[in-house]
Amino acid sequence: MAPYYITTPIYYVNARPHLGHAYSTIVADSLARWHRLLGDDVHFLTGTDEHGLKIQQAADAAGKTPQQFTDEIAPMFAEAWRRLDISHDDFIRTTEARHRAGVEKLLQACWDAGDIELDTYRGLYCVACEAYYTEDDLDGRDCPIHKRPVEQVEEENYFFRLSRFEDRLLDWYARHPGAVVPEHRVNEVTGFIKQGLQDFSVSRKSLTWGIPLPFDSSHVAYVWFDALANYITAIGYGTDESGFATWWPAQHHVIGKDIVRFHNVYWPAMLMSAGIEPPQGWAVGGWLLVGGEKMSKTSGNVVNPLELIDDFGVDGFRYYVLAETPYGNDGDFTYEGLVSRYNSDLANNLGNLAARVATVVGKKCGGLGTAPDPQSALAAHAAEAVAEASRHWDKVQPSRALEATWQLIRATNAHLETHEPWRAEPGPEVDRVMGDALDALRIVTILATPAMPATCREIWRRIGLEGSPDQCRIPVDVRWGLYPAGRTVVKGDPLFPRRTA
Ligand code: MSP
Repeated sequence: MAPYYITTPIYYVNARPHLGHAYSTIVADSLARWHRLLGDDVHFLTGTDEHGLKIQQAADAAGKTPQQFTDEIAPMFAEAWRRLDISHDDFIRTTEARHRAGVEKLLQACWDAGDIELDTYRGLYCVACEAYYTEDDLDGRDCPIHKRPVEQVEEENYFFRLSRFEDRLLDWYARHPGAVVPEHRVNEVTGFIKQGLQDFSVSRKSLTWGIPLPFDSSHVAYVWFDALANYITAIGYGTDESGFATWWPAQHHVIGKDIVRFHNVYWPAMLMSAGIEPPQGWAVGGWLLVGGEKMSKTSGNVVNPLELIDDFGVDGFRYYVLAETPYGNDGDFTYEGLVSRYNSDLANNLGNLAARVATVVGKKCGGLGTAPDPQSALAAHAAEAVAEASRHWDKVQPSRALEATWQLIRATNAHLETHEPWRAEPGPEVDRVMGDALDALRIVTILATPAMPATCREIWRRIGLEGSPDQCRIPVDVRWGLYPAGRTVVKGDPLFPRRTA
């Protein structure tokens, strides 16, 4: 089995989980689930980023110690992911001992390589980003992302000599085409490197909430150095070398476009310095905007995903998040958009197909599923859906993969409308048409499992199949004609009751 190690960003615990966090986590979850269907040996990591000035300030504001504060918020992420049916294998908190041991080892390795040096730093700092900016980056005096003033900071810091890595990074990207998806993002990365890289500070003296440097305990590690290391510390770097050897390098870091510089420039350089291979891939998402703006506590436009699942079900919400916006583009979340996609794709298409098939099998086939026609016109549609969905999942395009899957749903509904089995007398013709619809539904259920795991299990059960679609394998189980006749088909409650805005 090929290993497939996939990660989400680790989320700052200064905010509660919101739609933006849910977005990257659901995308990563759907990829993890797709790769399990392919038979890969999947390891899926998520977690929380708990050190640094921003968290310390949030804790101060809440009148708590940083440890108390992070201990309260981190479980909210774990709970949100449980409710959203996220199938991660591990959840790392950067305050854990295993992480600290790995960060120390990584810092020491970069220090031993001579790539960390002491220097004085004067610069403009945005606490919300936990990043330095140059005058040119700013929007007036403000951080370009948070639109609030940056601070002038002067400190003696340890620096990572990023400037030494320009050629090595450019060479690495040239030798690994396709490592960054969507592809256009790689030009942004290489363009940034070509402009010339500045060394970055990897320590803070003024701060105590962090991991002390192994070679100078009067400084703590810069939060981004600390945070990026989670991808290797969680799998055992510094604590379990065999786990590390099993999973590294990661196949995909799922990230938002706001953290590309850290993930695609700093991170591979840090790894190269320590003599570790860079990750194999990055899947860079856009933002889910609300009213045209990035969600943030300061803008007051935070959407809580857990409230939406009360109205649309976990899978209705997951489907919307994955289907609405081509991955990589910005999307605009609106409640009306959610209602309309839910009603059209789920209530009217998938839900309607499942209900129709069960009703007609109940009335015309004695409630027992019938065999598909090996020569059915739907077979070609199914093969096309499998091929297209596979191609798009491979390129980290869940919306297109789902669109290909929904083509099969539409073709199946059209097949039923052409043959109108509900009007025909029971007999071999009706049996064949219903067998075709059942087999198409079986294939749809497997293909849609990464997006809607619970609903697909339920459809699977209703059409009388054993096991569950997430135990299936692609391509063997999505071949045409495998629906076994004679199984009891049940209707059940509507899967997606229609909603009004
Ligand atoms: N802690 C850092 C990441 C460290 S990874 C080694 C961080 N955390 S964050 O919580 O602020 O945001 C993490 C990621 O959440 C963003 O990169 C992005 O992927 C996702 N999103 C946060 N807000 C978002 C939207 N409004 N829309 C889409 N994704 C967003 O940065």
